Amino acid sequence: MSKETIISVDKVHVSFWQNNVGVHSIKDLITYRKSPFTNKTILNNISVEVNKGESLGILGRNGSGKSTLLRTIAGIIKPDEGKVTVKGTFAPILAIGAGLEQELTGYENITLLLALYGTARKNTNAVENIREFSELSDEVLRMPVKQYSSGMVARLAFSISLANESDILIIDEVLAVGDQGFQAKCLEKIYKIKNEGKTILFVSHFPDDVAKICNKAILLEHGELIHSGNSLDVCNHYRQLF
Ligand SMILES: Nc1ncnc2c1ncn2[C@@H]1O[C@H](COP(=O)(O)OP(=O)(O)O)[C@@H](O)[C@H]1O
Ligand SMILES: [Mg+2]
Repeated sequence: MSKETIISVDKVHVSFWQNNVGVHSIKDLITYRKSPFTNKTILNNISVEVNKGESLGILGRNGSGKSTLLRTIAGIIKPDEGKVTVKGTFAPILAIGAGLEQELTGYENITLLLALYGTARKNTNAVENIREFSELSDEVLRMPVKQYSSGMVARLAFSISLANESDILIIDEVLAVGDQGFQAKCLEKIYKIKNEGKTILFVSHFPDDVAKICNKAILLEHGELIHSGNSLDVCNHYRQLF
């Protein structure tokens, strides 16, 4: 395996301003007097490197900062401190319920995302490949995504992610809501992509899957990186959280 570093996250800190005192209007603001905003740290001093062809598992409880880390790596969120360097292209990040336009139909979402990521120009069979992998019927794909069950959304999201010929595949928990048959099919496909030498960032609540897919992993807790290293070891630490 080549040792070329494709993703480097160096001492990254991300915070958000939060209004958690219920100040929602100018009148509230005047009567409240103080600033209603507090700064909340979401990621604190995170460093991790991923080499070309490696698969990194990202584990942690809900709210520990996994999706924020993926968004920071993808350049959607700018860190307040630290540096992210990426040498490669991404597939769209389609987490559960994020990344798909609810008002658009399945087909419209496919067309939009393929156009955004330039896949349609390179692969004219992309729409057909997505339809086939998702096993969603023509009728379903003509419906707005807001009418889909969570399993149908997962099928569409995952199939679109796979259709992209990008260097880095990002999977953010999309497998969690698929049925078992579809999950198994997706894992097989991820495994194949891994063996083709692509780089994978894999967020999952199933340590067994992370151990199977990823050579290394990190464990986040309240935005801190509490373990990193060999995926089997990190998965064991994750299991001990519960
Ligand atoms: N845009 C945002 N503004 C304010 N807080 C956010 C935003 N996005 C995420 N958060 C907060 O950041 C924390 C980590 O969220 P997230 O990265 O989605 O965690 P995970 O993917 O591990 O479940 C949560 O407490 C969440 O409420
Ligand atoms: Mg998340």
